[in-house]
Amino acid sequence: MALRKEQTTARICIPERPTLRKLKEAAEHCKACELYKLGTQTVFGEGKLKARVMLVGEQPGNDEDLAGAPFVGPAGKLLDKALVAAGINREDAYVSNVVKHFKWEPKGKLRLHKKPSGREVGACLPWLEEEIALIKPEILVLLGATAAQALLGKDFKVTKERGKIFASAFAESTIATVHPSSILRQRSSEDCEREFDLFVDDLKVIADYLA
Ligand code: URA
Repeated sequence: MALRKEQTTARICIPERPTLRKLKEAAEHCKACELYKLGTQTVFGEGKLKARVMLVGEQPGNDEDLAGAPFVGPAGKLLDKALVAAGINREDAYVSNVVKHFKWEPKGKLRLHKKPSGREVGACLPWLEEEIALIKPEILVLLGATAAQALLGKDFKVTKERGKIFASAFAESTIATVHPSSILRQRSSEDCEREFDLFVDDLKVIADYLA
């Protein structure tokens, strides 16, 4: 069935009395924006319903698109390392993304990440809202500007607000920090190390909060 323009958000795909499983299954068929044509599959959030921490990134990357799981590629590996350094067990976290399909453009044989548009973020957001409503995390962690601005508004500045816990419409305790891929993009190993340490400091705020 073709979607009318004003209906093109995933809201109309949300099943009645949603559970994580029902949501994941419904999201597999989501056509609320055009990105389903680009990605191999929908990459839904993963983790326990009772997770105390919920981590939200931007969108799946190349590896996630192929594996069908969030944060399993280079950014995910860096995230895992930082979580360990901060004393947080990824098993205790629910991990998801604002956008559930990989947006990319070709460069030779590579599929290069392309930032999702506001329209694509808006179309996909109902999935994340439903995930948050089910998980009810003690602390919601927004990784990078796309995630933070999708939930907190366009004026939110991660660079200014990172590492601070505050209440939001989505969780009583919300915190934003940088996206792990921003650390991978640093030019020198010194910059990379410094940014990694700052990222771990932000994650330690979460560990202290949970302790
Ligand atoms: N970047 C993200 O924002 N999410 C992933 O799942 C992987 C990379």
